[in-house]
Amino acid sequence: MIECRTAILLLLATGSVLWGASLALGAKPKAARPSVPRPYLSGQQLYRDACASCHGVDGRGAARYATGFDVATPDFTDCSFATREPDADWSTIVQEGGPVRDFDRLMPAFGDELSEEEIQRTLDYVRGFCGDMSCWPRGELNFPRPLVTSKAYPEDEAAVSTSVALEGQNAVFNQLIYETRIGARGAAEVVLPVGFNQLEQQGWTGGLGDVVLATKWALFFSHHTGSIASAALEAVLPTGREDRGLGKGVAILEPFFAIGQALPADSFIQGQVGAELSTDPDKASHELFWRAVVGTSFSFTRLGRPFSPMIELLGAREFEDEAEIQWDLVPQLQATLSKRQHVLAAAGVRIPVSQVSERNAYFMMYLLWDWYDGSLFEGW
Ligand code: HEC
Repeated sequence: MIECRTAILLLLATGSVLWGASLALGAKPKAARPSVPRPYLSGQQLYRDACASCHGVDGRGAARYATGFDVATPDFTDCSFATREPDADWSTIVQEGGPVRDFDRLMPAFGDELSEEEIQRTLDYVRGFCGDMSCWPRGELNFPRPLVTSKAYPEDEAAVSTSVALEGQNAVFNQLIYETRIGARGAAEVVLPVGFNQLEQQGWTGGLGDVVLATKWALFFSHHTGSIASAALEAVLPTGREDRGLGKGVAILEPFFAIGQALPADSFIQGQVGAELSTDPDKASHELFWRAVVGTSFSFTRLGRPFSPMIELLGAREFEDEAEIQWDLVPQLQATLSKRQHVLAAAGVRIPVSQVSERNAYFMMYLLWDWYDGSLFEGW
């Protein structure tokens, strides 16, 4: 296990260097102030002067004959749409124009005419078009997805994840994950796993694993403090063949709580605590688990795509008396692939730090698509 320890130290060292770099890069240059000083204009005045001709006085979009173009403007009164993009993203679009996120050229750049504060004031007014903002968790609380820990934010996303055993028996597990938002606070999820194992006698075998159905509900969130907390219930169905190492052979109910908290300098911490309650404790025992992840987001240039280095600490313990706690560390890096920032990838290594002789390290990765923000081939 010396290799594993060295790997952890190397990854931690790389992590701290990236963290330092991100803090240094985090200081954003100030946007150019308008050349002619202007009297103070409220968000509403700014919006009416600069935006309403296309976006409509009511935020629903001006009629096509008024704008004279065919591209639909978004409906800012639709809370589901208007609450999910963080201020920082909208501010960038307003400063730089639509193409910066591969939106239409018709969305002009205001960076030369409006100061950063004026843009923020306009956006605060735009946010008001959604009448019940406080019922919807803001996009700011949608922290980067860790490889193992579940997020608290109810998401519209699809992902393919893969784990490959780095030691011991050869094994590859894939998951097809689909999550859809329900109303302001809820989400539902389906996970279809497909695994391949190299067994001693049978050689390589593969097939469907244990299908997961889940539902999540945001209990508490605050844009002001940067916090979100959710409760969730997962049902793990015994659809995978236990004899091929593809399933547990029993149904499992998994209630859990998940939290996310913004930290200074685009950093964040996320946590999850839950239990795996087996429907047949003789076949699979109950288990408690707790997971925490800390990370930060940065980009190398002001408008560059964000990277998020993270490290997860995973703990689990079976309910049985003599059971030992299983600890794992998962250093990882998430990278944004598309200009729209709706297609992302992450990779890392799950390293056991307890019972190292019985448990294996895994390489893990995912490809993630926030499908609400555009089709997979749009936005590059
Ligand atoms: C000349 C017309 C026009 C003006 C003026 C205009 N916009 Fe836009 N805006 C658009 C169009 C068109 C889109 C949609 C582009 C697309 O979907 O490809 C858009 C998109 C946006 C978006 C992106 C929403 C998303 O999908 O995430 C924001 C935010 C926005 N506008 C804010 C503003 C603000 C704030 C102002 C005023 C400071 C403004 N716009 C002025 C035409 C305009």
